[in-house]
Amino acid sequence: MKTLFGELADGTEIHSWSLENGGTRLEVLSYGGIVRSLEVPDRHGRYANVCAGLARIEDYVASSPYFGALIGRYGNRIGKGRFTLDGETYQLSVDDGENSLHGGAEGFDRRVWDVEPFAKGSDVGLHLSYTSVDGEMGYPGTLTATVTYTLTEHGDWRIDYEATTDRATVVNLTSHVYWNLAGEGSGTIADHELAIAASRWTPTDPGLIPTGELAPVDGTPFDFRESKPIGRDLRTGHPQLLAAKGYDHNWVLDKGITAEPEHVATLRDPASGRTLKIATTEPGLQFYSGNFLDGTLVGPSGRTYRQGDALCLETQHFPDSPNHPSFPSTVLRPGRQHRSTTIHTFGA
Ligand code: GLA
Repeated sequence: MKTLFGELADGTEIHSWSLENGGTRLEVLSYGGIVRSLEVPDRHGRYANVCAGLARIEDYVASSPYFGALIGRYGNRIGKGRFTLDGETYQLSVDDGENSLHGGAEGFDRRVWDVEPFAKGSDVGLHLSYTSVDGEMGYPGTLTATVTYTLTEHGDWRIDYEATTDRATVVNLTSHVYWNLAGEGSGTIADHELAIAASRWTPTDPGLIPTGELAPVDGTPFDFRESKPIGRDLRTGHPQLLAAKGYDHNWVLDKGITAEPEHVATLRDPASGRTLKIATTEPGLQFYSGNFLDGTLVGPSGRTYRQGDALCLETQHFPDSPNHPSFPSTVLRPGRQHRSTTIHTFGA
């Protein structure tokens, strides 16, 4: 179902699509490919929207910390917004201190996507496409991106990312949904239990750029190999947690890059019983504990978002990969197709 959600200042109409399948309800905006709400039942069958969002298009345009949005061309940071490829150095849009974050000042989260609904077998979904012109935000090559959101008959939300380019470039696409399995605006996620299948993580410098080290999680707050409440080690005073005001780091998934999505993380809210399982083809996972939410934004149901009231689990290649030859490559060349898949499975 398609409805008019609002208009941008220049009169561009922004539409909202509502889909339902297998007990999951999804609402998506053409602006930023934003997941504005995702509703799933709790253990008693009661539905709640488990994604943070905003009420109006004006709110998203004015100030959104990437709520629900597609992120491109490059998820997370590129140090000093600069990288060298085939001997040429590119200067990107710098929007986070001296670094480039989430594709620069006008990333994919702020673009209007073409949206085409589809039904295929027992699946329903949306094809979202956006063409980023050569040089946009400083990136080389015209990048043609298609992201497919599918709701399966089991209520899984699947994301397939595809991109091609006409010049060598770098690409790292992800989704920036903020989860609160108790329902958006219901308070802290500190009691949510999280497991991440990763024995290593990438420590960062004070600007949250990876140092290049793949550090073992053993004996640190970054050990989520066994499920634990997010709040358990959040206040341990670990220097990396102080620098980021909480968790805002990349986990090196043990499975590495895979042709097919493999299970990498489980999030569970003990109170509602809701669970979220994530499977991906990607080698990394950014777990961000909503550190910069500061009580200045109000969600669609009128409740304020404070620090740690939602969390992100962004499947990705590692931050700043273009400047770390030892990290899995994010280079995309003409004639090749960038592909990645992430599947979200809900339970209660
Ligand atoms: C990512 C970054 C964080 C922050 C959030 C949005 O997770 O790593 O530092 O920018 O996005 O605020």
